[in-house]
Amino acid sequence: MSSADIYREIILDYYRNPRNFGKLENPDIVKRDSNPLCGDELEMHINIKDNKVADVKYTGKGCAISQASASLLTEMMMGKDFDEVKKLSKEDILENLGLTELGPTRLKCALLSLKVLKYGIYSYLIEKLKDTSSADKIKKEASGLF
Ligand code: FES
Repeated sequence: MSSADIYREIILDYYRNPRNFGKLENPDIVKRDSNPLCGDELEMHINIKDNKVADVKYTGKGCAISQASASLLTEMMMGKDFDEVKKLSKEDILENLGLTELGPTRLKCALLSLKVLKYGIYSYLIEKLKDTSSADKIKKEASGLF
């Protein structure tokens, strides 16, 4: 099996067996966004406790890449401290899904969940932590994703 096949299998597994799919009851962060090219949507719910991600869930509809990346991202975030979550990058997602040569259209699919996460963190920084300077950085990063 080639490495491309292995990564295809990973994407299909995350798509068919979504991790952390659903909603939280009283989330600290709720954010929703869509891919402007297809209208597919993703919503993320996150709970922060003791400066760490205590729980995270997502709902949405979309292609295998968008849903697999959301599923993977929730696993990558779980238990991480807030600063580590803020640092999760486009490269982290693409590397973990083995997606190195995506065209611009598929790139939006792969990064939709990260965009939702970054805007979610942005809202949390502004509303709960009153940290506008970190928030500005995150907002810039999020708007640069696509
Ligand atoms: Fe809509 Fe991929 S085709 S997110």
